[in-house]
Amino acid sequence: MKQMTSKELRSMWLKFFESKGHAVIPSASVIPENDPTVLFTTAGMHPLVPYLLGSKHPAGTRLTDVQKCIRTGDIDEVGDASHLTFFEMLGNWSLGDYFKKEMIAWSWEFLTSPEYLGLDPEKLAFTVFEGEGDIPRDDEAANYWIQNGAKKENVYFLPRKHNWWGPAGQTGPCGPDTEMFIIKDQEPCGPDCSPACSCGRFLEIWNDVFMQYNKNAEGQYVPMEKKNVDTGMGLERTVATLNGCKTVYETDAFTDIIAKISELSGRNYEDDEATTRAFRIVADHLRTATFIMGDPRGVSPSNIDQGYVLRRLIRRAVRYGMELGMPEGFTIEIAKVVINQYADVYPELKQNEAFVVEQFQLEETRFARTLRQGEREFEKAIKHMGESKVIDGMVAFNLYTTYGFPIEMTRELASENGYTVDEEGFQKYFAEHQKSSHAGAEQRFKGGLADHSAQTARLHTATHLLHAALRRVLGDEVAQKGSNITAERLRFDFSFGRKVTKEELTMVENLVNEWIKADVPVVMTETTVEEAKAEGAIGLFESKYGERVRMYTMGEYSKEICGGPHASHTGELVSFTIQKESSSSAGVRRIKAVIGANPED
Ligand code: ALA
Repeated sequence: MKQMTSKELRSMWLKFFESKGHAVIPSASVIPENDPTVLFTTAGMHPLVPYLLGSKHPAGTRLTDVQKCIRTGDIDEVGDASHLTFFEMLGNWSLGDYFKKEMIAWSWEFLTSPEYLGLDPEKLAFTVFEGEGDIPRDDEAANYWIQNGAKKENVYFLPRKHNWWGPAGQTGPCGPDTEMFIIKDQEPCGPDCSPACSCGRFLEIWNDVFMQYNKNAEGQYVPMEKKNVDTGMGLERTVATLNGCKTVYETDAFTDIIAKISELSGRNYEDDEATTRAFRIVADHLRTATFIMGDPRGVSPSNIDQGYVLRRLIRRAVRYGMELGMPEGFTIEIAKVVINQYADVYPELKQNEAFVVEQFQLEETRFARTLRQGEREFEKAIKHMGESKVIDGMVAFNLYTTYGFPIEMTRELASENGYTVDEEGFQKYFAEHQKSSHAGAEQRFKGGLADHSAQTARLHTATHLLHAALRRVLGDEVAQKGSNITAERLRFDFSFGRKVTKEELTMVENLVNEWIKADVPVVMTETTVEEAKAEGAIGLFESKYGERVRMYTMGEYSKEICGGPHASHTGELVSFTIQKESSSSAGVRRIKAVIGANPED
């Protein structure tokens, strides 16, 4: 087999399809422009969906490109030999132009011609759709392979699970496909050994999809008037296969990144299994994060949608980086390697370098603060545990919701200190929390991707500041009568005998904003109702005499009894705006307010 770099394969691909009359188009953004059903561009065809559905593409009916793709369904699998969250897909399309016959002949040529991949025809296997319901077996595709020179016994008919592709989102173009495999020099695992099994003898390198159907919102497959071809070859994986690399991490796509991790950590990729895994996680996640932030439609880490996935990637990379002993700021060092490596193919990375660097810096700092605070809270928690060596599920859960402290870190700290975590308890609270937060915010956070607990906590903190500010401006007559928080806003009901004037509302708003600017820590102490009252705490004193309660203190501004959760600093609220003041009932006023978009959002 040919030895080949990513760069060589990229240009060989484009040259081949150009020679077949295709226009080379640039990669689209990794953040889809027209598809609200997915967060990221998952395949080369994805940005082309409108054209696959019949719109006229300005570059014509034959297109080819290299597309930046992100698939984050398996973030937690990354670290093994095969999963990647970012990859480049080589692709070509027929928009109602050529179909199966031409595509299969060209695929054969690209795979076997010495001018291109020059693979041994005997070592190639092909799969085609075996048919289902009204959709017939794809004998046509199978015959074209054989006519071009494929061995009959190397053509396999497989079910929908293997040989159907799409749609990329929940609706859109799709159809039967034919996949191409390199057969490794390895004994068959049994008489039924085929590309469908996972023994590793067959390595998939390319997929030709024959798009004949449009899946609609009702789940029906509607035949399309114009038939399209959509093909995709994973660049990293194919380079690994062609060069006989064990994994994609041994290809040139990762050489520089891994060398940098080694340099910064003083460790070697192959030191031991755990080290290899940590290297891979850091390399994959930071490469992906760099592409997300370096995109023309780049986003910042946050708690929703793309920003949330980005945050997970960065924080997971930071955790594993810490395990490797990487110095502070290492994410930036790795990002610079990624940017330089891809600058000529994706110039947007260089253009957005300042933003990427700034965002990595911010997120590393925020995460470090979260971790430090979580550690302090963890220590406080174990001080109160007495003899028990098991961290209560509720304690672990509070560390997570109030401080954003990942359960993995709680586990780690626990084991370092000779404790274990009540995992079952934690999972129970976690599941309840997920259920209630999803029920409340279903529309906005569709897909279960968002953990918006941080936003709720911030609004909760804002409510305390509002309460305190109202008392300063309007007097001690003000007392909480009710509170309600959604993902978007807070609502606060309080006792007061008349309408609050515009000037008073502005004063209240200004006060809260001042306190946000002061960025004081939100400190929780456990105490008794009596002690809290003695300290001047406000809040709903419903607790029984002597009962222990939680008191939240925000600098000199607010002291209130409450169950939490809260932001860790008032600065996290960014800004505070009163939207409406109205009457709630006799002697009770109601304020609705919002907080600013957090830099983390
Ligand atoms: N869209 C097809 C794939 O992603 C080519 O495999």
